[in-house]
Amino acid sequence: MLDESYYQVADEIVDRYGKKPSSLIPIMQDIQEVYRYLPGELLSYVAKQIGVKEAKAYSVATFYENFSFEEKGKYVIKVCDGTACHVRKSAPILEALFKELGLSKKKHTTDDMLFTVETVSCLGACGLAPTMMVNEEVHPKMTPEKAIALIEELRGEGR
Ligand code: FES
Repeated sequence: MLDESYYQVADEIVDRYGKKPSSLIPIMQDIQEVYRYLPGELLSYVAKQIGVKEAKAYSVATFYENFSFEEKGKYVIKVCDGTACHVRKSAPILEALFKELGLSKKKHTTDDMLFTVETVSCLGACGLAPTMMVNEEVHPKMTPEKAIALIEELRGEGR
């Protein structure tokens, strides 16, 4: 059950784009920007408001990779595992992060909701491989040691 404030935020966003089916994608984008994920209950609520069938709203949201129904941590770390990064040893970076944070390919987010770790196929900065991204910021030429140091720094900021 979501807190009432989520619905208020959704109402404001719906007002911004208007109660029409074509507002669906921008509304979903804004909701995800606020919460870093798209709560399913909120998607159903919004779909009803703008006259889109719930099933249709879900199929649009699942079609676009960018939308996530899973709640994410304060820091979303994307480790690039594209070819250039893989060749330059991105896998040990991912393993080091998983180990440090107690995460795995099945468990993406820490229980304290501070970190989410995911892989991505290319961050578009292959010349700086191996790369990783923390929220909107790209970190070039990473090593497992640099990744752990960054986690420690973020832990300090996140508390
Ligand atoms: S493959 Fe990693 S940035 Fe392109």
